[in-house]
Amino acid sequence: MISRKEITELLLSKEPEIISNLYKRAADLKLQTIGPKVHLRGLIEISNICRKNCLYCGIRKANTLCERYTLTDEEIMTCAKHAYAAEFGSIVIQGGERTGRQFTERITSLVERIKFIGNGALGITLSLGEQSEEVYKEWFEAGAHRYLLRIETSDPDLFRKIHPNDGHHTYDRRIKALMDLKSIGYQAGSGVMIGLPWQNAEHLASDLLFLREMDFPMIGMGPYVPHDDTPLTVTTTTDPEASFPSVADRLELSLKMISLLRILVPDINIAASTALEALHPKGRIMAIHAGANIVMPNITPSDYRKYYNLYDRKAILLEDLDLGDAEIGFGEWGDSLHFFNKV
Ligand code: 5AD
Ligand code: SF4
Repeated sequence: MISRKEITELLLSKEPEIISNLYKRAADLKLQTIGPKVHLRGLIEISNICRKNCLYCGIRKANTLCERYTLTDEEIMTCAKHAYAAEFGSIVIQGGERTGRQFTERITSLVERIKFIGNGALGITLSLGEQSEEVYKEWFEAGAHRYLLRIETSDPDLFRKIHPNDGHHTYDRRIKALMDLKSIGYQAGSGVMIGLPWQNAEHLASDLLFLREMDFPMIGMGPYVPHDDTPLTVTTTTDPEASFPSVADRLELSLKMISLLRILVPDINIAASTALEALHPKGRIMAIHAGANIVMPNITPSDYRKYYNLYDRKAILLEDLDLGDAEIGFGEWGDSLHFFNKV
């Protein structure tokens, strides 16, 4: 086992040999525990309309510079059929957080329709923010079996610093939503952002131990990527205490976090986050070599993709999906071994 002290030391290490040994140890452990395959999740970004105002996010409600879009049901169905035809195995339906029956019922019927494709062949993951327990249940019963909701940071104080203090962005509500997802029976995926303003190695070590403690079968962690039209970017340019690591350091920290998590919980699914690609063209391959086993290629129609800007990034086209020599588990769900090892 690896102690909190060792984790913190490794996060702070600048020794190339220690760092490459860490990546190698994690990659070897992945190979032994879950095998060589990388599984795909086709990511469909259904809308960038969001009711929240997270201080770091480019599609926050108050960002009037963001042009809003919503895919039609038929566009979403076309994406899902495309994912099935391309043998992706699973899709992720991601979008800004919204409430209201019209929205929640629309998702329910979409999930039901997608379940028909290939007789339930496609695994469906939802990523639509915090919802009531009833709504989560309804979507689960419609056929969604995984849900992604990051805790963003496990430190309540840091959580407060990166979210507005308006009563709609609380750490406790986020925890409650994650608990609800688990008790309903979803494979719940969570994760954190890495290299945030004010965040230090102790915070990140706590994040890893928190993610293990919460027993999530899937994790997606990625670097913080500042977006020009957000309050957090303004803060970091005016408040010297809100500094954050360089691009190179955020990339390295993110890869170390993936490796350390693989060592802490060897049989979970760990995603090579898309945000990594915004820092380095080979970011996702580097993540696979550091212990990640899931990649989420964006299959949103390219006309819309440029509007879904959580952070500044280059559009990544499916044709560009360059995963080096990784073996892909085409047509498979690629469920987390950890989830079934427990049940
Ligand atoms: N940098 C990196 N990740 C971000 N997210 C939102 N904004 C940013 C940003 N500026 C991530 C959050 C959220 C996920 C959908 O996108 O972690 O949970
Ligand atoms: Fe909305 Fe998610 Fe962005 Fe927060 S991070 S503003 S909830 S899309």
